[in-house]
Amino acid sequence: MIIGVPKEIKNNENRVALTPAGVAELRKSGHTVYVQASAGEGSGFTDQEYTQAGAGLLPTIEEVYSTAEMIVKVKEPIAQEYPLIKDNQLLFTYFHFASSEELTRAMIERGAVCLAYETVEKADRSLPLLVPMSEVAGRMAVQQGAKYLEKPMKGRGILLGGVPGVKPANVLILGGGIVGTQAAKMAAGLGAHVTIMDVSLPRLRYLSDIMPSNVVTVMSNEYNIREAVKTADLIVGAVLIPGAKAPHLITRDMLKTMRPGTVLVDVAVDQGGCIETCTPTTHENPTYVIDDVVHYCVANMPGAVPYTSTLALTNATLPYAIQLANKGWRQACRDNNELLLGLNVVNGKVVYKGVAETFGLPLTDVRDVLRQEELIA
Ligand SMILES: NC(=O)c1ccc[n+]([C@@H]2O[C@H](COP(=O)([O-])OP(=O)(O)OC[C@H]3O[C@@H](n4cnc5c(N)ncnc54)[C@H](O)[C@@H]3O)[C@@H](O)[C@H]2O)c1
Repeated sequence: MIIGVPKEIKNNENRVALTPAGVAELRKSGHTVYVQASAGEGSGFTDQEYTQAGAGLLPTIEEVYSTAEMIVKVKEPIAQEYPLIKDNQLLFTYFHFASSEELTRAMIERGAVCLAYETVEKADRSLPLLVPMSEVAGRMAVQQGAKYLEKPMKGRGILLGGVPGVKPANVLILGGGIVGTQAAKMAAGLGAHVTIMDVSLPRLRYLSDIMPSNVVTVMSNEYNIREAVKTADLIVGAVLIPGAKAPHLITRDMLKTMRPGTVLVDVAVDQGGCIETCTPTTHENPTYVIDDVVHYCVANMPGAVPYTSTLALTNATLPYAIQLANKGWRQACRDNNELLLGLNVVNGKVVYKGVAETFGLPLTDVRDVLRQEELIA
């Protein structure tokens, strides 16, 4: 198969969909890979590394789209890429269709086969291509939190781990899933006193078993949150209710009960945020202050560490990309239900329920599409 890797052109996106190591793996399976010149630059990979791994270099994004049967990307195509997409071309990337009707209609119109990273799903309902970015964001939340607790950054002026003879900071983590667990590990490693709250008792039991002794688990409810925020130095919002907006666990009135210089990092901001006063910010201007409380609400935290994020993402996506390249999308999706669930839009038809419902579009059964495709292909 001919695989194309365009340079990401969405604002501030420095990740790339394949590393030179990924190119080498695909080449080993007999595929041809074209990478757009300087596509890996933002993540620290040179054109030379790609060519040494066996990729062909193409100077323009137009040539990548016109040459490739499968496009592997990181972010959804933006408007200037829509006309480049060919009928029947396979696009393997994050789409987040439900957040853009324009994108959904454009992909229907282009007749593309859209396999979305975010809906590839394992039998245990976990989302293997979202996990790596949650891991990055969870670890980063504490790194950022520690920085904004410094006085020049408008924080309380407290060192997370304290020093001998001085108490460490209190870190409160709301949600003990992927983000929360990674944040807790980082904060605990730095010596902070960490409290994780979750509504799932089995999850709290698990965390209590695996976490070091400076981490405690507490049931998440309004009473416990109100008490904990009064003495927290850093609060990390990491809740998720799948398919729904995040609940506002920290309400505006609670800010007045916090100590001046407390730092809030709402990682869940991409789902509406679990802190009422959080609105999305960018890496250029990540924080603002309300009632003397510092708010950090960057919606694409992994974008600040493209080297780590690219490697983490491609570790997870490459095995799927290889299946798609080896078998073609039809057979790969027939053989692997995880990939089948990634199909969102196929040759002008919406095949993912959530997307069809969000925009009131007709839903086609993905298996019917596959049966039809078999007759056509
Ligand atoms: N800002 C970013 O750059 C960025 C990056 C990655 C992920 N995220 C977001 O981070 C959030 C968390 O992702 P995740 O992968 O850790 O999800 P996850 O599903 O692994 O964990 C969510 C946890 O929240 C818990 N929860 C639900 N309701 C709760 C409540 N009322 N109180 C306490 N806990 C509650 C769940 O039981 C679960 O353990 C998501 O919104 C995700 O989109 C943001």
